[in-house]
Order: sequence, then structure tokens, then C-alpha cells
Amino acid sequence: MNGNQLDTAAKIIQQGELVAFPTETVYGLGADATNESAVKKVYQAKGRPSDNPLIVTVSSVSMVETYVASFSDDAKKLIKQFWPGSLTMIFKLKPHALSKTVTGGLDTAAFRFPNNQLTLDLITKAGVPIVGPSANTSGKPSPTTAQHVYHDLNGKIAAILDDGPTTVGVESTVLDMSVDTPSILRPGAVTKEDIEAVIQRPVMDELHHVGMSQTPKAPGMKYKHYAPDAQVYIVDPDDNWQEVADWIGAHQQPVGVMAFNDVINSIDWPKNTDVISLGDDAKSAAHDLFAELRDFDNHKQYKIVFAQGLKPTGIAEAYMNRLNKSAGQMHFKQL
Ligand code: TXA
Ligand code: MG
Repeated sequence: MNGNQLDTAAKIIQQGELVAFPTETVYGLGADATNESAVKKVYQAKGRPSDNPLIVTVSSVSMVETYVASFSDDAKKLIKQFWPGSLTMIFKLKPHALSKTVTGGLDTAAFRFPNNQLTLDLITKAGVPIVGPSANTSGKPSPTTAQHVYHDLNGKIAAILDDGPTTVGVESTVLDMSVDTPSILRPGAVTKEDIEAVIQRPVMDELHHVGMSQTPKAPGMKYKHYAPDAQVYIVDPDDNWQEVADWIGAHQQPVGVMAFNDVINSIDWPKNTDVISLGDDAKSAAHDLFAELRDFDNHKQYKIVFAQGLKPTGIAEAYMNRLNKSAGQMHFKQL
């Protein structure tokens, strides 16, 4: 990426067109957050329901201060510790600070300061914050490479800034700071424990309180997400992988398996198995998950994929949150 390309991308943003941009989590779809018609194009390109508010992506804390009256002491501590980084925070807005199209009519907005220099330079050059939903077609796994973005949005957006594969692989943690007790609306690489260690008080985990039938606080959490064409079944930590292999052996069709290396190496897999490694730990599983789900769709026509389930602590909570959605809560045990 040279300076010229960055200048061009910044101009495209200023002209009200769409530019996909890299972050450390997943690729985002950028448009001038202060330009109503530009923001509308983002919903159209993604096929996103209009009541699902967008994240506002900034390159400085002062950009947030344009829209937010003041930060609590906790917010200041979290900004200091985690920005730039994978913690998105929801703040109460000054009246009429951002359009309804961005906020979905809420009096709050989610702000994100990503840890990617190219994108921070883009925002600074454009001189405006950019809305930044994940740059996928609504309902598909979030994109972790520029190629994924191209696959979903080619012909619908003006440019893609390519900075190689993202490092984290799942979207940022969304933390609601507009309420008395800060509350995690979406788990990500910055965990509940990480946040509590900084503010020295308990944080709520909205996911454990809200069933799918109620209205979740983050509107985006109510939609089916990350769903590949294949049916994914979660193999829980207490399941026996040999039984999975036996099931595959008893069925003629090709079946996908996404698992840790130690699992893969411990089993003599039937010939009709296609095994894909999630590496050795939860961090690499989170990193690989979306790319592998896409791979199953684009290059293989499997009807069934078995995926490694993990105990949901630390980054594994974010991994299991996404995996549960792609599996529609289906488990190997149910077969
Ligand atoms: O890592 C990320 O956060 C990526 C990268 C591109 O920055 N972006 C991303 O954006 O995942 P998106 O739009 O796909 O997810 C934002 C989530 C949605 O679930 C949305 O409903 C929620 O945040 N959200 C946004 N504004 C909100 C608000 N004011 N109150 C509650 N939830 C909000
Ligand atoms: Mg998304």
C-alpha cells in the first residue's frame, strides 16, 4: 500500500462511496459516518436490516468527543488500556450527534478504535469517522481476508484496502458503557476478566441473561449469523471423537472436520473425511474459524461439518459464541 492508494481511498470516503478496510479483528465496510446517503449504501451493499445500528470507527479519542458529552472514569481507564484494540464501547450520544441511519434510532452509539495503522491513516486522511460493520453479506461469516470481501461485495463497493489476513479473526468485544453496570453484548478478544481487571468491578455478561426469544440489547445479536451452507455440528469437550469418526465411517458422504491438531492426530479418519486444523489452542481456533467456514462453502460441497467445541472461557467464549451461531445450536450428541 502506498500513500497514493491511501489518498485515493480517503477521497472515495469523502465522496460518499464505500471502501472496505482492514482491522485486527475482521475487515470492515467503511463509509463517512456523517454522510446519510453514504451510510445508507452500507446497509444496501450488505443486505443488512435497517434496525441494526453500525459501529463508528475512529482514529482518535477526540473524534469520539465530538459525539459523546463526557467519559466516565471507567471509560477513560478502558480507553487507555484497550485503544487501539478490539474493545468497542457504547456511549450515550449528545442530542442529534449522529443520524438515525447510523444509530438505528438509539440515543447511543458504538465506537471502535481499531489496531490497524492503514485504517487509522485512512480515517485521519478522510477527516471523518467511518461506519464499520463487518464487510460481508449479512448472515455470512465475517471476512478475515480481502479476498473474502471481494467474494461477497465485488461490484457493490468502490475499493478494498488489502492488508493481508487479520490477526484476531473474530469481531471486537462490544461493551455497553451507557448503563450503570458495564455489560458485554458480544464477546471478543478482550474478555470479561480483562475488563474487570482494569475497572476493578464486576461486568455483566448480557449473553448469559438474554435468551434468543427476548430482544437482545445489541440488535445484531438476534439475527442468524455466520451460517455456512453445510450444517455444522459441535463436538463438545466431553464427546468422544472416535465416535465421530465411527459416524463418518458409517456414512458414504464426504464430511468435514474442524479440530485441534491433537484430535486430528489421535484418530484414524475414514477416507470420506476432510480434516482441517484449527491449530493448537483457542486463539488459533478463533483466528481460523470464519475462513474455514467460508472454505467449506466455496470449495467443498459438504452437507455436514463437525467442529471442535471448547469450554467457553477467555477467547474461547468468543469462538463458541460464533460457532454456536453457525451451528444453529446443533451438537454431535443430537445426531
Ligand atoms: O470487530 C468489529 O467490531 C468489526 C470490525 C470491522 O470493526 N465490526 C463489526 O461491526 O463487527 P458489526 O456492525 O458487524 O457489529 C456491530 C454489533 C452489532 O451486533 C450491532 O447490533 C451492535 O454492535 N451495536 C452497534 N451499535 C449499537 C448500539 N448503539 N447499541 C447496542 N448495540 C450496538
Ligand atoms: Mg457483522
